[in-house]
Amino acid sequence: MQKELEQVKIKAEQMIAAARDVSELEKIELEFFGRKEGTLNKILKGLKDLSPAEKKVVGPLANEIKSHLQQLLDERKSVLEDEALDAEIEKEKIDLTLPGKKKALGSLNPSSLVQYELEDIFRSLGFMVLDGPELESDYYNFEALNIPEFHPARDMQDTFYIKTKKGESKQVLRTHTSPVQVRAMQKYGAPLRAIVPGRVFRYEALDVSHDNNFYQLEGVMIEENISITNLIAVMKTLLKGIFKKDVKVRLRPGFFPFVEPGFELDINCLICGGRGCSVCKQSGWVELLPCGMIHPNVLKAGNIDPEKYSGFAFGLGLTRMVMMRYGIDDIRLLNSGDLRFLKQF
Ligand code: DAH
Repeated sequence: MQKELEQVKIKAEQMIAAARDVSELEKIELEFFGRKEGTLNKILKGLKDLSPAEKKVVGPLANEIKSHLQQLLDERKSVLEDEALDAEIEKEKIDLTLPGKKKALGSLNPSSLVQYELEDIFRSLGFMVLDGPELESDYYNFEALNIPEFHPARDMQDTFYIKTKKGESKQVLRTHTSPVQVRAMQKYGAPLRAIVPGRVFRYEALDVSHDNNFYQLEGVMIEENISITNLIAVMKTLLKGIFKKDVKVRLRPGFFPFVEPGFELDINCLICGGRGCSVCKQSGWVELLPCGMIHPNVLKAGNIDPEKYSGFAFGLGLTRMVMMRYGIDDIRLLNSGDLRFLKQF
């Protein structure tokens, strides 16, 4: 039995020394000290069959081995625990001398860049910068702008109608920023100078120059004795401010129910230099700035007396202007969210 104990001692010593982690140690502990199945206990069960003289020797030996092994186990355990902790710390170690990770900063969409420049130009001319709802009532989007129901002018601006309950006024995704003209007149009265940059929506077949949501910048100026001369002067200031050079323009009659007379102000296509391309539909000219003298019916809808005041309005195709300014030949890039495109601005 003595021999057996010595063998167990040696085996346990070896196993404890070889254990690689705490859970292995726990298994070893169970194997040798387990109450029922533990090797040591199994051996000690035979103690009762020994002679008193033998017991005197084997008993203390067994106890000695037991406490020796227990001590080895405890020591190894604390070593292994320390090692595990060190490994953990090593893993979490931060090297303060490494260069930091740079947070990627976004950049402004070219439409925003041009919009902000325009806002600056108009603020310097004494214009307010206003906002309006993108989900607009049929009244402000059409009726108040002298476009009654069933008027053929509605066909040019087909849009997305929103289902409303019976009795509720019809809602549309606004087709232009013009509805804010009347909202501004009602809120601020005359005299009035305001611009309204914003998103508009149309039911369009998409191609290089048409998207179903794009940006416009509306403008109104209402005072006593405002005439077409004022209109042209402001438009020229605007174009020069944005393109930083004299751009060739042409003014031709244009029909919009909310202005009389109405004009189309076209600029020489800056994508192709006037030679003709897909953006200017091969004409060399791009419709950029429809405008005109505000129709008396619209002033009336805005509670402004057309006998006393007159004014001009314009609806700048902001998205078009952005394309001209940067030479972008496909409108769809602007809303694409494609970083390869956006990073260039
Ligand atoms: N709202 C018109 C459109 O989107 C553009 C427009 C034309 C606006 C003439 C105006 C204007 O203010 O005077 O087609």
